[in-house]
This record gives sequence, structure tokens and C-alpha cells, in this order.
Amino acid sequence: MNDNLKTWQRNAAAQTERILQERLPESIAVPNKLHEAMRYCALGGGKRLRPMLVWAAAELGDSVQAACEAAVAAVECIHVYSLVHDDLPAMDNDSLRRGKPTCHIRFDEATALLAGDALQTRAFELLSRELPDFPAERQLRMIAALARAAGSLGMAGGQAIDLEHVGKNMTQKQLEQMHGLKTGALIRAAVFLGGLSCPDLPDKYLDCLERYATPLGLAFQVIDDVLDCEADTATLGKTAGKDTEADKPTYVKLLGLNEARRYAESLVKQSVGALKNFDSRADRLRELAEFTVSRTY
Ligand code: IPE
Ligand code: IPE
Ligand code: MG
Ligand code: MG
Ligand code: MG
Repeated sequence: MNDNLKTWQRNAAAQTERILQERLPESIAVPNKLHEAMRYCALGGGKRLRPMLVWAAAELGDSVQAACEAAVAAVECIHVYSLVHDDLPAMDNDSLRRGKPTCHIRFDEATALLAGDALQTRAFELLSRELPDFPAERQLRMIAALARAAGSLGMAGGQAIDLEHVGKNMTQKQLEQMHGLKTGALIRAAVFLGGLSCPDLPDKYLDCLERYATPLGLAFQVIDDVLDCEADTATLGKTAGKDTEADKPTYVKLLGLNEARRYAESLVKQSVGALKNFDSRADRLRELAEFTVSRTY
């Protein structure tokens, strides 16, 4: 990874931390345990890739800072909520997340359910706050795009398909649909919201962003499947080898490790190809696409 990207990523992660610190209720607010759980899960960890994608897409035009920050907060809150629920015993039953005990282990299952619920609604509360100097029509598009990406036609739908297929075989087409929903939808929304935060960015640019983000979201989950097999628990910050143990439908199960990695690389090429008409303003997006497959955790 080039030093420039590393510095940019470090700064983006620090900004995300600050934005979430400021926008999540304090732990001293009642109910304390719930707020403590929300902050425990959202703060101090994670790669912050989705916030980075919001910022990188926002670099394509003249982004309104407050709109961009609202999008960053909202997208990451939805992502964290999805992780908290994904780790519950009723789903993947994981005890480690971002190098710490999962929410239901550190607190309890009821609190983890509620923390996820409350992070989800907080996302929309933050995204719908009044934004001076930002067109309301654009803000509505952001809210609608995020809602769709999180729901039964997006992340939640993908999670349902995932759970239905434990111990079963899936075709490549079915896997593609499942990964596109459970992980791809929110990654697409992150990129789209970043683009929308630029009031004057034309729809044809937003279409290019969608063509960039769709294969990227898929590649991200293919590599998540690969790393579950290749990386160790300490590096991942979550228990390695869980997919095989639970007989989850993954690209590694379907294609094997090498072929899955090659597939992810070809998806990233496709993704970067969608940016061919953009100048250097799309360089961060190009770099983040490469990072998606070269990452080690
Ligand atoms: C993990 O996402 C869950 C998937 C959608 C694959 P990340 O790998 O982005 O998790 P964090 O945010 O870095 O913890
Ligand atoms: C989950 O995919 C995607 C989500 C919507 C959270 P995984 O179940 O593979 O994510 P990890 O490996 O637990 O992070
Ligand atoms: Mg899962
Ligand atoms: Mg999981
Ligand atoms: Mg996984």
C-alpha cells in the first residue's frame, strides 16, 4: 500500500471516530447500559472502509461537508448494527469482533438486539437532520438509498439468504446474489451517498459510481470469505475458520481459495474500469478498490 493512501486512511478513520463520538448518545444518558453498548460496538475499531468510500466518492465533486459527515455516520451505524446482529447466537454465534468480545458476550443478548435496533434508527435520525445549504431532494435520495440498502432487498435480505443456506450448496449465481445483498448493498450505498453529497454531481456520474461499487461490494465479501480461511484470529480480530466450521455458503466452498481470490481480482478490475472516464479525482476510489483485495484483515 502506498504511504499516501495509508496516511489518508489513518486520517479518514480518525475522522470517523470523531464523527461517531460526537453523534452517539453519551453513556451517562439513560438507559446507560444500552448507550454504553452502542458506543462499545461503534467506537475504537474496524477498518472504516464504508466511511472511506463515502469520502472517496465525495472527492469527485464539490461535496457539502455536513452532508458527507452525516452520510459517514449513518452508513457506519448501519454497518455496526449489522455486525452486532450477525454475531448473535441466532445468526453466526461469534464471540470476538474487532478484537473485543462481541456485544452479546460483553453485555447480554437483549442488549445486543437493542443496540443493533438503536444504531439502525440513529443512522436515519442523523441522516435526516436539517442540513443548511444542501438540497432537501438530494438528502431524501440519500435516506431512501440507505434504507433500501439496509432492508429486505439489501443487507437484511442477504443475511436471510445466508442463513437459509447453511449446510447447503449454492450455484455461483445464487452466491453472487446473496453476497451482493448482504455486503454489496451497503458498500454501494456508501459510494452512492458520497456522490450524492456533491449537489452538482450529474446522474451519469452517479451511474458510473454504481458500476464501480457493485463488483467492489461482491469482491469485498469474496475476500472476507478467503480471509476466514487464510488469516488468523489475532489478525482478523474475529474468529478465523468459522465459515468452514458452520458450513456456510461461501466463494471458497464453491471455487476453492485460489479461484476465489482470482475472481475477486477480476471483479476489482471491472470496478476500476467503471471509473475510466474520471480524472485523478477518482484516484482514492481506485486505490480503495485495490485495497479491498490486497487487505490482510
Ligand atoms: C465485515 O465487514 C462484515 C462484512 C460485511 C464482510 P468489515 O470487514 O468491513 O468489518 P470492520 O468494519 O472492518 O470491522
Ligand atoms: C456478514 O457476513 C455480513 C453482514 C451483513 C454483517 P459475515 O458473517 O461473513 O461477516 P463476518 O465474517 O462475521 O464479519
Ligand atoms: Mg454472517
Ligand atoms: Mg459473521
Ligand atoms: Mg465472514
